[in-house]
Amino acid sequence: MADTNQIKHVASPLARQTLLDSDLTRPVAGNRPIKLLPWLQVIKIGGRIMDRGHEAILPLVDELRSLLPEHRLLILTGAGIRARHLYSVGLDLGLPVGSLAPLAASEAGQNGHILASLLAPEGVSYVEHPTIASQLAIHLAAARAVVGSAFPPYHHHEFPTSRIPLHRADTGAFLLADALGAAGLTIVEDVDGVYTNDPNGADGKTAELLKETSFAELAKLRGTLPFDPALLEVMANARHIARVQVVNGLVPGRISAALRGQHVGSTIQTGAKTA
Ligand SMILES: Nc1ncnc2c1ncn2[C@@H]1O[C@H](COP(=O)(O)OP(=O)(O)OP(=O)(O)O)[C@@H](O)[C@H]1O
Ligand SMILES: [Mg+2]
Repeated sequence: MADTNQIKHVASPLARQTLLDSDLTRPVAGNRPIKLLPWLQVIKIGGRIMDRGHEAILPLVDELRSLLPEHRLLILTGAGIRARHLYSVGLDLGLPVGSLAPLAASEAGQNGHILASLLAPEGVSYVEHPTIASQLAIHLAAARAVVGSAFPPYHHHEFPTSRIPLHRADTGAFLLADALGAAGLTIVEDVDGVYTNDPNGADGKTAELLKETSFAELAKLRGTLPFDPALLEVMANARHIARVQVVNGLVPGRISAALRGQHVGSTIQTGAKTA
């Protein structure tokens, strides 16, 4: 029989506790995580901007290029119209949400490849999720920016709450920016910011721009939003990113102004407590 005194005990403050009791885990797990890349600016480019082709993309690329001497960027792209079409074909065929999620993510990736090709002379390349997860620092030591798909890699682990993936490009960009402890996240849309209701919808004339709002205020709005609803839940539990600015990427200069801290769109306060 083994002598139990020979068993090596590993001292750990969580060893004897259930991880389900937050009163017990809080002293160990309740503090703020470190900022991995505190100098990084994350920019999420809406797929609908990319859908517009060269008229929207070329000025955007010029602006991103002009930001490189001043900022180090993680540029993440959304999926746009091709993912909408893909959802309709996939749903018609009865594909489960876990099959649709990686297909839509690959559409977002295609937009990323387009942007990275146009920024290649500046040393910018497209990198896949595993590289973002473990080798972003070395890539950003070699180049001022990298491009990736904004979709989070839930793939077949996507929550089955809805037939359309719950966690899409905006949620993915926010999760990454918060996990990296980035200096900021800017969400680039084809409208001036977040409005009280869809400015391009049937009641568009009544839409008012919300220059300053919060995840809690937006959760109370009844209408649509220009990003995944799951983003609001993730914002509620944010650890680092205290404010996100939503700006119009069709107006040259707006992204640069936002990165310099100017208020040129809608700023959304998250649940993160500023230090
Ligand atoms: N409350 C709202 N405020 C602003 N825009 C809204 C609102 N509700 C709906 N919209 C619409 O959302 C559109 C943007 O759509 P969406 O956010 O799906 O595009 P995207 O961000 O470019 O795409 P993706 O998420 O694939 O990257 C705007 O053009 C606007 O018409
Ligand atoms: Mg959007």
